[in-house]
Amino acid sequence: MNETREKKDMSEKRNNSENSEEDEEEKQLKLESLRKAGEIAQEVKKFIKPEIKIGVKALDIVSATEKKISELGGVCAFPVNLSINNIAAHYTSPFRDDGLTIKDNDLVKIDLGVHIEGYIVDTAFSVNFNKEENLENIITATDTALQAAKMMVKPGTNTKNIGKKIEGIVKGFNYIPIKELGGHQIERWRVHGTKSLPELGSQGGDEIEVGDVFAIEIFASTGSGSVHDTNSCHIYALNPYTGRVPLRRKSSKQILGFINKNYKTLPFAERWLGKEFQMGVAFGLQELVQQGKIRRHYVLSEEKEAYVAQSEETILVTEDGYEQLT
Ligand code: CO
Repeated sequence: MNETREKKDMSEKRNNSENSEEDEEEKQLKLESLRKAGEIAQEVKKFIKPEIKIGVKALDIVSATEKKISELGGVCAFPVNLSINNIAAHYTSPFRDDGLTIKDNDLVKIDLGVHIEGYIVDTAFSVNFNKEENLENIITATDTALQAAKMMVKPGTNTKNIGKKIEGIVKGFNYIPIKELGGHQIERWRVHGTKSLPELGSQGGDEIEVGDVFAIEIFASTGSGSVHDTNSCHIYALNPYTGRVPLRRKSSKQILGFINKNYKTLPFAERWLGKEFQMGVAFGLQELVQQGKIRRHYVLSEEKEAYVAQSEETILVTEDGYEQLT
């Protein structure tokens, strides 16, 4: 009964001309913000790609990338991920530098997000320093699957069919897509929206509609095609489904206020908090996790410690296809 009532309210709203003007304004803001975020992401990729070299520290790459995003007028939609070899995703430099350095034979993935007013683009690429024969085509595999997937994007397409296509291409290169990862819809202030755009034909099943924003994201591995959480975590995000909770520590309350104000529900790095709160970051985060107020994004490793490559672009669905944003 409530649902019916809500639906009626919504249709009344649509018939109201003042509201449709507002809708038009919102649409304009969305388009302009997404395009600007996309241009920034493109420029940042061009800037950082040549800096990814053997002997360079991960922290230097991550910091330079994040700095460039803000210099160009964007905001990081999540901490820059720099994931090496079997690490598939969610590594960012920790609060205290762990000294991680790019080595000979590394397969490096950079995943970055830019937002303007909460309108997010998400993009990633891989750089391979490993000459092993079985890695020869791994980036070509993810890039080719990404291109093919993109060509299928138009209103009415089911994401399941795109997943099937991606799976076919990645497997055609003798790699395995990762079942727990893949593309996703992006909504305002939400990196992972409701709809998914998987990389397996057995998953997905959402219909693509005009105005949808999607990150088409491909992961190929030399392993079994599955990832698991490691026990390290340097990225967190607010849990929007948890209400008020009692917090004992002063630092927890301060950190929570800071997160609400600056990141909302977007993922953030413990390293970012380290700049604001010298002391108490670790304990503060721990209490917030225990109370269910924030969630951990653990570093993800391929199950068999095998190699993983990644390619990702963000597109906006148009009447007759898509507009590439990144
Ligand atoms: Co993504």
